[in-house]
Parts: sequence; C-alpha cells; structure tokens
Amino acid sequence: MRVLLALIGALGLIGAVVAAAFFFGGFYSVAGTAYEPEIVKSVLVRVRTASIARHAKDTPPANIEDPATVQAGAKMFVAQGCTTCHGGPGVGWAKFSEGLHPDPPDLKEVVGDRTPAELFWVIKNGINMTGMPSFALAGAKDEELWQIVAFLKKLPNVSDADFKAWTAGVSKP
Ligand code: HEC
Repeated sequence: MRVLLALIGALGLIGAVVAAAFFFGGFYSVAGTAYEPEIVKSVLVRVRTASIARHAKDTPPANIEDPATVQAGAKMFVAQGCTTCHGGPGVGWAKFSEGLHPDPPDLKEVVGDRTPAELFWVIKNGINMTGMPSFALAGAKDEELWQIVAFLKKLPNVSDADFKAWTAGVSKP
C-alpha cells in the first residue's frame, strides 16, 4: 500500500514537472493559427455558456420591443464598430476578422438561442481571452447597450434595406 502511494505521488510530481517544462519552456504554441483539440474547444464553449448563463441577471428595460429602440440599437451597432467583426444585414465584416480565433459568430444565427440578459452581459463585459471587447470598458452606457440588445433580438428579421435606412450617416469608430 505504501509503495503504491509513493508511486502515485512520484508520478504526480513527474507529471507536474513535465507540464511546467512544456508550458514555461515555450513549447506550447499561443499562435492564433494553432487549433485546439475538438474536446478542449467543446469544454471551453460549455464553460463560456454556463458562465454567461449564471452571470446574466439584469432585467431588460420596458421599451426593448419598441421600434425606436431597435432602430437606435442599429445605429449603435454601427457606431460601436460591431459590424467590423460580426458584419450586419448587407454589410460584410472586415477581412482581419477572418484571422480571429475563435472567430466572431454571425450574430443572426445565435441571437435566437440567447436571452436579452445574456446578450447584454456579453456586450457589456466582453469575453476574456477572445477578440470580443467589453463595451462598458470602451465607454458605452447601459442604455446604449440595451438598445443594441433590442436590435440583436430582431436581427434575423431585419432586411438589408431597413438596416441601410436606419444607419444612414452613422460612421464606424
Ligand atoms: C474585435 C472584434 C469584435 C468586435 C468589434 C465585436 N465583437 Fe462580438 N465577438 C467577437 C468574437 C471573437 C466573439 C466570439 C467569442 C467566443 O467564441 O467565445 C464574439 C462574440 C459575441 C457575442 C456572443 C455570441 C454567442 O455565441 O453568444 C455577442 C452577442 C457579440 N459578440 C456581440 C457583439 C456586439 C453587439 C458588438 C458591438 C457592440 C461586438 N460583438 C463587437 C469579436 C468582436
């Protein structure tokens, strides 16, 4: 029994030394082009989803369904630079966004699965270790972020023409 425990201890120690040599010795690649194994990716996505679900507790404002709020959100979506990475109705994303890893999702395909509180939390706080910025740190007000959420919830049904009309004259940062 004691021999077995000593063996387990020794193996644990060797494992820790090997892992330290691997990571601190620079063998692990932090390149954006180094793709993680599928299992690591799916674990990261589960951790992200669970974390956002637990943290997203804010209640949406009463005017979230109002067309005026949705249209103000479309303007904010352009003014804050979201289209650069995510694109928008009739608007392509910047070429560099194809070099981000993880890559920014096409938002109209995910917003149906997210609550307004979850969208608000992500936009406000960002997602650590990804290209998704915190727009609270970038200086946006909560009211403006809720307008963006209002727009995002309608995004799958916003036509290219409507988006163009709503955002006329608004320039990217
Ligand atoms: C510099 C690029 C960049 C900009 C600018 C950016 N995003 Fe993102 N965004 C990302 C990336 C990358 C992800 C994916 C993160 C991940 O996979 O965990 C993301 C994820 C998201 C998500 C979560 C999607 C999901 O699956 O739940 C939402 C919502 C979102 N962004 C909204 C916005 C909004 C709204 C703006 C503008 C206010 C914005 N983003 C600006 C890069 C960006």
